[in-house]
Amino acid sequence: MKNIIVLGAQWGDEGKGKVVDIYSDFADTIARATGGNNAGHTLVVRGEKFVFHLIPSGILHPGKKCVITNGVVVDPKVLLSEIDKLKSRDYLKDDSQLRIGYLAHIILPYHIALDRAREERLGSRKIGTTARGIGPCYEDKIARTGIRACDLAHPDVFAELLRANLELKNFLLKNYYGAGEIDFPSTLDEYLSYGERIRPHLIDTSLFLNEEIHRGAKVLFEGAQGALLDIDHGTYPFVTSSNTTAGGLCTGSGVAPTKISGVIGVAKAYITRVGGGPFPTELFDDMGQKIRDRGWEYGSTTGRPRRCGWFDAPVIRYAHRLNALSGIALTKLDVLSGLPHVKVCTAYEIDGVRREEIPLTVSELERSVPVYEQLEGWTEDLSDAREFGDLPKAAQRYVRRLEELSGVEVMLISIGADRNQTILRKNPFRA
Ligand code: IMP
Repeated sequence: MKNIIVLGAQWGDEGKGKVVDIYSDFADTIARATGGNNAGHTLVVRGEKFVFHLIPSGILHPGKKCVITNGVVVDPKVLLSEIDKLKSRDYLKDDSQLRIGYLAHIILPYHIALDRAREERLGSRKIGTTARGIGPCYEDKIARTGIRACDLAHPDVFAELLRANLELKNFLLKNYYGAGEIDFPSTLDEYLSYGERIRPHLIDTSLFLNEEIHRGAKVLFEGAQGALLDIDHGTYPFVTSSNTTAGGLCTGSGVAPTKISGVIGVAKAYITRVGGGPFPTELFDDMGQKIRDRGWEYGSTTGRPRRCGWFDAPVIRYAHRLNALSGIALTKLDVLSGLPHVKVCTAYEIDGVRREEIPLTVSELERSVPVYEQLEGWTEDLSDAREFGDLPKAAQRYVRRLEELSGVEVMLISIGADRNQTILRKNPFRA
């Protein structure tokens, strides 16, 4: 049994898409279980660029089965546009390559309108969401008023649910937020037509995945966002609205924890964050801008410049505690080439007291002063390295130090955007 979770170990955007793409070669089935189109993966395959927000990047591997499970919130418009783009580029020739959970909740226009209106109302206290309606859709799910993929397939059921939801949402949009209302008849028609197109993909994804596992298939679970954005364990309220940690992938997919054989945490060789919230190692100087430019740190979902900082070991130790990481996939090491030195945060000082562990509250995190260790930089271009020994000695020392400070071995190192610019030290599907 080899069923591996790949998840973000920082604040998202760690490069999970590329790591999942590499590991997809060794898996039979690739499943997403949390989040929605707030995620975004940019992949470069043989020089061709692909951007995905919902569909697992494994879809580029012909013959692999991809699954969007019940825990994902699905914007049908985005989903169908990804399906269309894939088909126009000669991928996804067979509809059964993409299966979608009957019980996945659907993002509707009022979720997006409420996400935007609420952020606007919060002004300087805004979360900095992706404005994709993710939070409001998960709110409806928890309030038990949400609309699911299976409801779209039944016009009468959908019409009733939509009417009931719009009554309250339009009241809020109009009277509380002063925003435009959502029209019932046109939304009904539009989303019923999406339902028609999605219907062939709908199945019981928990049953499917468990059967796959039972027959000995290898399943790769693709996480979204990162551990520090987890609704229960992240830097609340500056988090997303789902459980991004390993347990969330089990809940979202309906696959039990005992069926999971390993968890890979993806971490950049530095760290980034988009949106608001505390970020102890954030760089506000030229170095931060240098990393942003070299790493092209602009969101693939919103295009926003990402906040950049030095590698934060307490963050990774926390991600390790929450997820029991079997290994780290370290991405974008090449971005640090040419810097005179590199720094790693080993601990924090809060009100003059040294802390090895990440503090729980936002206010403590905001007062956290990173304790840095400075390491020698390297000037060499790393993009042709294929073995760990091909890396310059200083880069090797940097990776080893990250392993010591995190307490987790680095199993994969990415040194460029292309699939082949990867050092695979240990394969979790074969380990
Ligand atoms: P939401 O998920 O759109 O509600 O946004 C909540 C917070 O999570 C904001 O700070 C977003 O910038 C952040 N976020 C959501 N998705 C991602 C992602 O895929 N990468 C990085 N940050 C994300």
